[in-house]
Amino acid sequence: MEITWKKQYEVGNIEIDSEHKVFVEIICKIKEAISQQYDWKQLGYLLEELLKYTDFHFCSEENIMRFCNYPKLKYHREKHHILLMELRQKIHVLQGKDQEKVNELITFLIDWFINHTLKEDMKIARFIENFQISKNP
Ligand SMILES: [Fe+2]
Repeated sequence: MEITWKKQYEVGNIEIDSEHKVFVEIICKIKEAISQQYDWKQLGYLLEELLKYTDFHFCSEENIMRFCNYPKLKYHREKHHILLMELRQKIHVLQGKDQEKVNELITFLIDWFINHTLKEDMKIARFIENFQISKNP
């Protein structure tokens, strides 16, 4: 499964979009490590980076929602929580060093990124737009 940054992934909020771009870059780095000769230790470092960045990004996005009183913050936070838990589990399973599981993880990440971004994060960006319009009519 392929992933490169596309215009269609932009939600229209500079902060969210720039963080999403980094997220895609990390997925690409993991994919590259897999396609080349890699050792499991190296992959482990990248997965650590992925996990920490995802945690940071969710925290950052939740603060954006807080600061503009986003009405679906609780719902969105729950989604983040579930996704992060799933990611932790999948990475944990990889300690078994199963090549197939690594490919599954990549598919999960891309699928998750595209679905979550296009559906949920887009809603935050639309809300912020309206929020800013109502603040500065
Ligand atoms: Fe999100």
